[in-house]
Amino acid sequence: MHIEILLLACVLTTTAQKLRTFSVALSSSPIYPNETEILNHTLSADSSFGVLTHFWVTGEPALDFATFSYYIDGETQPSIVFIPSMLVGAGFNDQAAPWGTKWMGKGANERGWFNNFRVPFQKSIRVTGKLASSETQSFTLPINARLVLQKIENRLYEALDFVTVANITTGQGFLLSHTLAVSSASINFIEGCYHAYTEYDQPFPGEGISTGTEDYFDSAFTFDAGQFHFEISGFTHFKNQEGTFELSAYRMHDMDPIFFTNGFRFVWRNGDLLDDRGVKCILESGGHPAGSPAKSIVTSYAWVYVW
Ligand SMILES: *[C@@H]1O[C@H](CO)[C@@H](O)[C@H](O)[C@H]1NC(C)=O
Ligand SMILES: *[C@@H]1O[C@H](CO)[C@@H](O)[C@H](O)[C@H]1NC(C)=O
Ligand SMILES: *[C@@H]1O[C@H](CO)[C@@H](O)[C@H](O)[C@H]1NC(C)=O
Repeated sequence: MHIEILLLACVLTTTAQKLRTFSVALSSSPIYPNETEILNHTLSADSSFGVLTHFWVTGEPALDFATFSYYIDGETQPSIVFIPSMLVGAGFNDQAAPWGTKWMGKGANERGWFNNFRVPFQKSIRVTGKLASSETQSFTLPINARLVLQKIENRLYEALDFVTVANITTGQGFLLSHTLAVSSASINFIEGCYHAYTEYDQPFPGEGISTGTEDYFDSAFTFDAGQFHFEISGFTHFKNQEGTFELSAYRMHDMDPIFFTNGFRFVWRNGDLLDDRGVKCILESGGHPAGSPAKSIVTSYAWVYVW
């Protein structure tokens, strides 16, 4: 199978203090069930850093299940591995198009996925592709920052379980973006609130980040206005079929970054609890469930800059 792919990047040349652009644009590039190299770029001696700025890919349907890996500064294990649909904030391989934000989108009916998250490196960057085996505004990132992708893939959670979507034990950084895809026999998982622990050992409830799942994604009342793709948030997929609810959404945090100083946990809940006054998000246990949340299957991406 073949794909078409574009990666754009720039490097800082220290001698001249100039930013130079480099890219790889491959048409009909082979991609196999084994891992195949797309780009291997080492900075020249007069360059101090580089940044990947743009990723775009299209190809045959099997591409949707292919993984792409970024090896930063000679890593033997890639620190970033993703599939294209979740890279642009759409779960369940939702092919709805065209739509786009400054961060990501999809400009063709079939594939045409793109993303503009900046991936910094200091020495080298290597990008590979592999088919699935079955098929902040005024803030400047420190020069040693890394973009880390933390994932949950099709994991089953019981009703009211806490789902840790980002788990960074030490260090400083901020949350850039989060995409959640859930399927469940009950829509009441949507009552689940988000909590940010901006120090790893901070106790419950940490910092409350939303009063429900759809509220976190800037909607309300079970997304009663339907699907949308805003610059900072989107409700990308919904299906209610044969007793199963499927939902996916994305949220960008560049306008409202969640900084942390000593490790970080970002936690969603599969449904939530009410106290006797009917107040939600403040009980770890006890109280009364909001509605009747059920087991849910969760896929999540959390993109976190760390340094
Ligand atoms: C991957 O598989 C292809 C096709 O079978 C083969 O040509 C290529 O050499 C393999 N690459 C690696 C790195 O094993
Ligand atoms: C990538 O390129 C560098 C520098 O040219 C080379 O040393 C390295 O072996 C290459 N990596 C792979 C996996 O081919
Ligand atoms: C978070 O990571 C730490 C260190 O790897 C691990 O001990 C802990 O169990 C993880 N927490 C969750 C909820 O996955």
